[in-house]
Amino acid sequence: MLSILVLISGSGSNLKALLEACDNPLFPAKILAVGADNPAPGLAHAEQFGVPTFVVEPGLFESRGEWSEMLLENVRYHNPDLVVLAGFMKVLPENFVSALSPNLINMHPSLLPAFPGAHAVRDALAAGANTTGATVHIVDAGVDTGPVLAQREVAIAAGVSETELHEQIKAVERTLIVEVVAEIAEGKLNLSERAN
Ligand code: GAR
Repeated sequence: MLSILVLISGSGSNLKALLEACDNPLFPAKILAVGADNPAPGLAHAEQFGVPTFVVEPGLFESRGEWSEMLLENVRYHNPDLVVLAGFMKVLPENFVSALSPNLINMHPSLLPAFPGAHAVRDALAAGANTTGATVHIVDAGVDTGPVLAQREVAIAAGVSETELHEQIKAVERTLIVEVVAEIAEGKLNLSERAN
């Protein structure tokens, strides 16, 4: 059984998909805890499933380094096999990444390497792209640059709004992240091999 810890910043719809999947006793992973960088609305999903939560807010620390150390301490307390960034919107410092690598994965609402960064959906629309999608990748020291584990395309319909397109992508992400976690748990995806 793969033990996972999920970090979020927002509504947590992908977290909810993982909580529902892990609630099935036949699913090969379980969620130990959910952390956030703010009192995110998505933490309520964890509470509904009886999963412990923690919040480590950057504004309460003197430096980004101290914040990330405290975040890492909270993660280590739960000792997960895998950390999933599911809409975690802070860039993590290298010491945090190297402490968990390669067992740290992120989901991103574009077909990386296209449209990295915090506004992937807006950027895809602004570029006039016909297609975008969802990516799950191993986190490395860069921003949205680590080895890609899985991707799925989403067509961009003419006139679609940023909110509508992001919802379409999130619907795809919810399936993709559950599939990727299952594949890691079943040994079909080997993160150490994929990281090299
Ligand atoms: C998801 O689309 C995820 O890919 C994105 O935030 C959303 C979170 O949605 N993450 C990033 O943009 C990271 N760069 P959710 O809170 O409803 O799961």
